[in-house]
Amino acid sequence: MLTNDQLDRWDRENFFHPSTHLGQFARGEAPNRIIKTADGCHIVDRDDTRLLDAFAGLYCVNVGYGRQEIAEAIATQARELAYYHAYVGHGTEASITLAKMVLDRAPSHMSKVYFGLSGSDANETNVKLIWYYNNILGRPEKKKIISRWRGYHGSGLMTGSLTGLELFHKKFDLPLAQVIHTDAPYYFRRPDEAMSEQQFSEHCAAELEALIEEEGPDTIAAFIGEPVLGTGGIVPPPAGYWEAIQAVLTKYDILLVADEVVTGFGRLGTMFGSEHYGLKPDLITIAKGLTSAYAPLSGSIVSDKMWKVLEQGTDENGPIGHGWTYSAHPIGAAAGVANLKLIDELKLVENAGSVGAKLNAMMKDALGNHVHVGDVRGEGMLCAVEFVKDRESRTFFDASEKVGPQVAAALLAEGVIGRAMPQGDILGFAPPFCLTEDEAAKVVEATAKAVKSVLG
Ligand SMILES: Cc1ncc(COP(=O)(O)O)c(C=O)c1O
Repeated sequence: MLTNDQLDRWDRENFFHPSTHLGQFARGEAPNRIIKTADGCHIVDRDDTRLLDAFAGLYCVNVGYGRQEIAEAIATQARELAYYHAYVGHGTEASITLAKMVLDRAPSHMSKVYFGLSGSDANETNVKLIWYYNNILGRPEKKKIISRWRGYHGSGLMTGSLTGLELFHKKFDLPLAQVIHTDAPYYFRRPDEAMSEQQFSEHCAAELEALIEEEGPDTIAAFIGEPVLGTGGIVPPPAGYWEAIQAVLTKYDILLVADEVVTGFGRLGTMFGSEHYGLKPDLITIAKGLTSAYAPLSGSIVSDKMWKVLEQGTDENGPIGHGWTYSAHPIGAAAGVANLKLIDELKLVENAGSVGAKLNAMMKDALGNHVHVGDVRGEGMLCAVEFVKDRESRTFFDASEKVGPQVAAALLAEGVIGRAMPQGDILGFAPPFCLTEDEAAKVVEATAKAVKSVLG
C-alpha cells in the first residue's frame, strides 16, 4: 500500500482537481483529504479520521455509503455484461428496467427518459432537445434560455452559462449569448424588506415578464430552474413563486425545465420537487439521486408534449443526431435499479421528509437567534445557515473575511462535514436520507459549537 506521504506528493504533482485553487493546491498551501472507506453517513480518511458527512458527498449519496445491494448489482452487471451501447434501439435489461422505474416515479405527463452520465450533460441534452423542438415547430428564432442568478445547472459551455454564479463565468467567456438570467427567488435577500413572500414571488414573476418582453417573446424558448436553489445557497422558493412563474411561462409559450439533479428521488421528502411545488415541467433533469452516485448516470425526462414533436422530427429528418458512447451505461443502470429499490424498501423518501424536518427545526432552535445568523432555512433533507455581519440591517460580511469557509472548517474539526456554499457566507447541509435523529442532533450540536468558535 502507498504511504500517505507518497499519495500526497502524487496528488499534488499529477491530479487536476475540479473546483480547487490550482496554484495553492499544487504548492501544498491548501489541504487535501484522501478518503479511504465509508459506511452509512460516515466517511473515513487515510488518517483514520471518521467524519459525519452531512453533505452526502455532493448531495448525491442519498441512500448512504456502503450499500452492499448496490455494490452487488454493479459487480454482477460488470461480470455478465460490462457494456453495450444504446444506439439504434439497443438496450440491456438494466437500462430498460430503469427507464420504466423512472417513468413510474415521474409526474404522469412525462413520456420517456434519455440517459446520460452527469447533470451537466443532461442539461446539455435538454438545450439541444429544446432547440430541435422549436426548429421542428418552424420557429427557429425561439431559442434563448432563461435561467436564474444563483441557479446551478452544470459547468459545461452551455450549462456553465445557465449556471448563474460568477465563478463559473469569470475568465471562461461565459455566459454564451443564447442564455439570459433573471432574479433569484431569494426571499432573505429581497430588495425591499417590507415585501411579503407572496409579494416577492409576484415581483420575481414581473421581472421575468419584463425580461421576456424586452428580449421579445418569440425569441425565448425555455426557462430552467431548480425547484429549490441548491449550490446558489440552498434557498427554498418563497410562497407562490412557482405558480406565478409558471403563469408567465404559459402566457408566452415558454418551456419549463425542472432541474431536479438535487431534488429528484426524494430529497424534499417527495419523489420529485415538481410534485412538491406543483410544477408541470416539459423536461426534468435527473442525476445524483438516480444512482446515489454509486455509478455515474443522469437523465432527461421528456414530456408527452415534447416527445410528440421529437417523433415528428425524426419522421421528417431521420434518426436523432444525439447520443454518447456511454448513454444508458449498463453498470450505471444496474446501480440505478438497485438504488431505487432500496429507496422504496427502506422508505428513505419518508425518512428524508421526517428527519429533515427535525434537522431544520433543531437548527433553527440552536442558531435562529444568534447575532450573526441572518437566516436558517431548508426543505426536506436540505438545510442552510446564512451568516451576517449585522442582523438588523442585513449587512453581509465582506467575502474576503471568508466567514462561511471558516465555520465549515471549524465544523470539520468537530467531526462533521457541511459545505461552505460558493456565493455568500452560507453553510449548507444535505445529508444522506438515512440520517438518524441522533445524527441530526449531532450535526446541529457541532454546528452550534463551530459557529460559537468563529463568531462568538
Ligand atoms: C441542480 C444541478 N444541476 C446540474 C448539476 C450538474 O451536475 P454534474 O456535476 O453531475 O454535472 C448539479 C451539480 O451539482 C446540480 O446541483
